[in-house]
Amino acid sequence: MPIRSSVRLEETMASMLPPRDSMLYDGWLLRFTRGVSRNPNSVWPLYPGSDPIEDRVRFCEQQYADRGLACSFRLTKGDDQDAIADILSQRGYVVHNPNQVLTRTISESDGDVDSVNMDTWLETLNRIDPEMTDEAIEMKRGPLSRITLPAWYGLLSHGDEPCTYGRAVRKGSLFQLAELWTSPTLRNRGLGTRLIHGLLRIGLEAGATTAFMPVSVTNEGAWRLYSRLGFEEAYAFRYMIRPA
Ligand SMILES: CC(C)(COP(=O)(O)OP(=O)(O)OC[C@H]1O[C@@H](n2cnc3c(N)ncnc32)[C@H](O)[C@@H]1OP(=O)(O)O)[C@@H](O)C(=O)NCCC(=O)NCCS
Repeated sequence: MPIRSSVRLEETMASMLPPRDSMLYDGWLLRFTRGVSRNPNSVWPLYPGSDPIEDRVRFCEQQYADRGLACSFRLTKGDDQDAIADILSQRGYVVHNPNQVLTRTISESDGDVDSVNMDTWLETLNRIDPEMTDEAIEMKRGPLSRITLPAWYGLLSHGDEPCTYGRAVRKGSLFQLAELWTSPTLRNRGLGTRLIHGLLRIGLEAGATTAFMPVSVTNEGAWRLYSRLGFEEAYAFRYMIRPA
């Protein structure tokens, strides 16, 4: 996939999880949100700018410091991105959580999934996923409640109890799948596959033609599943953070 497309997908992902506050500075998007999630709380250097990179980095660091937030950067690949990475390394930043964005054409899908509202979805996560503590749910609620694009919250049940969840957002022809999870005791029975097919069908019916999702490079199980379902690597991104 050409690099232009990675910028388009990065723009799309930025609008699919709105931060609490944001600012554009010389081609870079600064996203500010309190919490542990890097996505809505990091600098996304989307476009080439005119000021020296080091000056822009210092500006960003000051903006985050003024808000009492840690400054981190989300980088893809390419000349300017590699130059930014070099400067960040010199300033003590290290790579954190490398991801690949996978894409796939949505041509047909006959899956089915229960689509619920955001509050019901969050309540369900809180009940079935031990990692979704009250605090984690409240942190998630902020960015999710700011989404203004069409969004769907999917659940699948085993018996009467939901055991698989995931969500999706559409921007024009692009459809992002996110936060897919199956209860550990019910994995490897096809529930994740059903969930993805169900969400893809929703996207197709809503007019989307390309599905995409980021996946951590260390998440081999998810990677294998998505590859089997026809998702292919489009581009890589990683965060650069400064250890405390
Ligand atoms: C990724 C995840 C959602 C997959 O859910 P799942 O319900 O286990 O998914 P499936 O059962 O459809 O597929 C998993 C594997 O089981 C296999 N499988 C599907 N049906 C099966 C069956 N009836 N019998 C045996 N194996 C089966 C699939 O072929 C797949 O194998 P593969 O990995 O070699 O492709 C789940 O592992 C998970 O919640 N992981 C933690 C959260 C996470 O990492 N989410 C992804 C973030 S990007």
